[in-house]
Amino acid sequence: MSYQYILTESLSDRRVGLIRINRPKELNALNRSVIEEIITALQGFEADAAIGAVVLTGNERAFAAGADIKEMAEATAVDMNNRDQFSRWDVIKRFKKPLIAAVSGFALGGGCELAMLCDLIVASDTAQFGQPEIKLGVIPGAGGTQRLTRAVGKALAMELILTGRFMTAEEAHAHGLINRIVPQELYLDEALKLASTIAAMPPVAVQLAKESVLQAHETHLQQGLLVERKNFYLLFATEDQKEGMSAFIEKRNPQWKGR
Ligand code: HXC
Repeated sequence: MSYQYILTESLSDRRVGLIRINRPKELNALNRSVIEEIITALQGFEADAAIGAVVLTGNERAFAAGADIKEMAEATAVDMNNRDQFSRWDVIKRFKKPLIAAVSGFALGGGCELAMLCDLIVASDTAQFGQPEIKLGVIPGAGGTQRLTRAVGKALAMELILTGRFMTAEEAHAHGLINRIVPQELYLDEALKLASTIAAMPPVAVQLAKESVLQAHETHLQQGLLVERKNFYLLFATEDQKEGMSAFIEKRNPQWKGR
């Protein structure tokens, strides 16, 4: 499959898929085609049993500097409503395998929202996160007001969204937005390592764990607890559960089958 705005790789030995956003001159601004290509690549990785997790990245200068301002500048409210482009982002949200953002440089506006759609974020020490839409006369439109607030709390989210100020990787880490910070030359390696650690885990349990953790963000506690309990019980229908527990008792490494 060849793409115009992204590059993809299957690192089969690590069971990891890699998607790089590749619009360097525009700081990886997310036009609608970039999002469609990411969706197509994710669908390929979802269907591939040899892939257990996916890393989404940009380049050293930018993960993504936002939705493409040039694509939106002249649009009317009716155009935006008819395009309903952000509903396509829900397809990324529904990706069943773990998705890890490897962020270096700018993750702004839609770029920050795209990173937050991922399950884990590994950042380079040069990463900058922000929701500067206010400076363009708009507000975040792909989940930023909700996901940033849930991740870092009301006080900081309100400040970032109302002032448009960027936050460093250190500040993002201190407030729980990202998992880890590494020197710039290592951020992609670190994300791939994390992805391959997860990809070595039993796939059905990984998928249901992801679904269950996301419930904590997306539903009320009681509903989330019910999804978690259902998924926990369901895993006892898998061969991997039997294998994992037997291997522990027999003091050997488990062999996962993904069923
Ligand atoms: C389109 C963009 C862009 C964007 C940068 N570029 N961000 N094009 N959409 N979001 C383009 C610039 O126009 C420029 O093109 C080239 O990338 C390099 O950018 P510079 O501004 O020259 O680089 P620099 O001076 O280093 O400044 C970097 C920057 C700045 C601080 C990141 O580019 C910036 O403020 N960008 C916009 C960030 C932003 O507001 N993001 C939110 C977008 S709205 P030329 O052709 O001049 O070389 C949004 C809504 C979300 O995301 C809704 C849900 C998705």
